[in-house]
Amino acid sequence: MNTVHVNGIDLAYEDRGSGAPILCIHGFPLSHALWLPAAEALGDRFRFIMPDLRGMGQSGVTDEASMQLYAEDLAALLDHLKIDGPVTVLGLSMGGYVAFEFVRRFPQRVAKLVLVDTQAGADSDEKKQERATVAQKVLSEGVYVVADGMLPKLFAKSADKGLLDEWHAILSATEARGVAAALHAMAARPDSRESFGDIRVPTLIVVGEEDAITPPELSREMAEGIDGARLEIVPSAGHMVPVEAPAVFNQLLADFLG
Ligand code: MLT
Repeated sequence: MNTVHVNGIDLAYEDRGSGAPILCIHGFPLSHALWLPAAEALGDRFRFIMPDLRGMGQSGVTDEASMQLYAEDLAALLDHLKIDGPVTVLGLSMGGYVAFEFVRRFPQRVAKLVLVDTQAGADSDEKKQERATVAQKVLSEGVYVVADGMLPKLFAKSADKGLLDEWHAILSATEARGVAAALHAMAARPDSRESFGDIRVPTLIVVGEEDAITPPELSREMAEGIDGARLEIVPSAGHMVPVEAPAVFNQLLADFLG
């Protein structure tokens, strides 16, 4: 992977393909590997810029994390790559929370928005408390707390066992400090429903029919709130549509981007 030093950390990223750039933002606590099937299939038409967010994958780990900081890291990455013009911003789950922040902070850098298996609302007080408890447990007991806890909810019931094993290994390889920092960052994120009116770019919303973490009704809420947004519900897929149903996802992405 490539690395660039931004905002006090080494940010790792893959840069594959050529054409209109897509800034691909993975979820929690995943890695750029989420986007590799899309980059493989569509790299002859689009440029896939796939960072590992701070504290995850191969990027540097700090206790500092917030949606603002994740978004600033990504803007610094685009600066490093000398991409000044607007790009497609594609985010899955927590990557969607970061995408909303990126649109708020850098609206002129966004050409199109793709929100996958995510939601716009903020955490309830109960959810914030739960994240704080999990963060503490991860730091004292290890990342297995999140890796084992999330795995059953990530995929549709019919998902291939090999896929579960592959992603369990990726989750388990994440540093506990990065996971804890991301949990606090998610708990502190603002309610992005208040920003719906400011989103003036073409928007595609994709969700797995069996998404148990951010179920389809949360995507319907975004589709109703964002002017002109298109909603696609993918059958037999859960919270990981790009790797569970890559052919369907890649087709939706290619059709939307034209
Ligand atoms: C994710 O998949 O990125 C997270 O599970 C989202 C969340 O916990 O809100």
